[in-house]
Amino acid sequence: MNKKFLDLGYQPLANRYLKIFKKLSIKKGELYKLGVGFNTKTKLVSLIKKIPDKKMFDKNYPYRSSMSKTMINSFKKLSIKIKRKFKPKLFLEIGSNDGAFIQNFSKDKVVCVEPCSNLAKITKRKGYYTYDNYWNLNLAEKIKKKFNYVDVIYSSNTLTHINDLNGVFKSISLILNKNGVLIIEDPSFLECIKKGSYDQFYNEHIYVFSALAVKNIIKKYNLELFDIETLKTHGGSLRYYIKKKDNKNIKIKNSVINQLSKEIQFGLNNFRTYKKFSENVKKSKKSLIKILTKIKKDNHNIIGYGATAKASTVLNYCNIDNNIIDFFVDTTPDKINKFMPGKNIKILPYNKKLIDKYEYIYLGAWNFKDEIFKKENEFIRKGGKFITHVPKPKIL
Ligand code: TMP
Repeated sequence: MNKKFLDLGYQPLANRYLKIFKKLSIKKGELYKLGVGFNTKTKLVSLIKKIPDKKMFDKNYPYRSSMSKTMINSFKKLSIKIKRKFKPKLFLEIGSNDGAFIQNFSKDKVVCVEPCSNLAKITKRKGYYTYDNYWNLNLAEKIKKKFNYVDVIYSSNTLTHINDLNGVFKSISLILNKNGVLIIEDPSFLECIKKGSYDQFYNEHIYVFSALAVKNIIKKYNLELFDIETLKTHGGSLRYYIKKKDNKNIKIKNSVINQLSKEIQFGLNNFRTYKKFSENVKKSKKSLIKILTKIKKDNHNIIGYGATAKASTVLNYCNIDNNIIDFFVDTTPDKINKFMPGKNIKILPYNKKLIDKYEYIYLGAWNFKDEIFKKENEFIRKGGKFITHVPKPKIL
């Protein structure tokens, strides 16, 4: 049973950056209610109302994985490990985006799947065999016909975006070699709850996984976890290593039981924990608004850094507009000179000189805090201050 625990109000589609600002309407279906529920049986956390894929992932999808050095480095490290440990003859990536990960592999060993055709075009152009389709059983059958079984399947920050999780794992199970390995990585719900990062929820993040939920979902498809790594990326993620149950050549590592125990100890199998999180989110909203309005009252300007989908959830939940934040800066070409989803706040191209004129920056990309702080050490040295809501609203 899916029990609702969190209400983040009416929200726009998070990655929909408009060229001309317009007030969105609930009546016209331009805003949807963002509620989050907990399945007491499977322990899966998911959005109550799910937006159809085709509305979210199309030929204009702006998100580019290669915009962050942190992700490029993390992908490079993993690719070395995959080649060394699993030596795949054929490798498949589900949600290959602009090829930030796949670029570490040789072209003849790789199949990419990316439904956003603007992104699929990039890997195609580089010579990688790319399907610009959604991941589902039809596609898996097609790939199996052409390539036969796959040795390693990798999917980063993608499976949580696909509504039909049963279809996802059924398709993976169909195409994965009997000794094959599935690696998925996504934001960890345990980290999300610990950090009060309610902005992990937006229409594209249909699910935020815990190890408890992953274990329960995959067992139906004869798959099991054999290793879990904790990552700093995307505000704290888990990388799950999964194999076929019948494959006894791979041993199950202690990391699996350790993560499951941590989650149980924290109360992730108990609805009360989720209700408490919801209360903390309300407090976080109040506190962030208080900090920002005080800065404005003291006659300072605030800008935003990193026009993330997460920031879209925060701005719309806390009702923050251009009376509070003058503009955002971002490096992503498809976001620049557009408006933050649902809010009259423009996104300007990142420019060091421009941000140096300001004293306060709201950190939309808090998940890249280390990378951004390194880049902006001059701003900080001169007395510039970042504001965050993670783990608690404060001026850093
Ligand atoms: P994400 O949190 O959804 O991955 O989005 C990160 C956003 O932050 C993306 O739009 C790129 C932007 N960004 C910058 O503009 N400058 C930076 O230095 C970094 C690391 C990210």
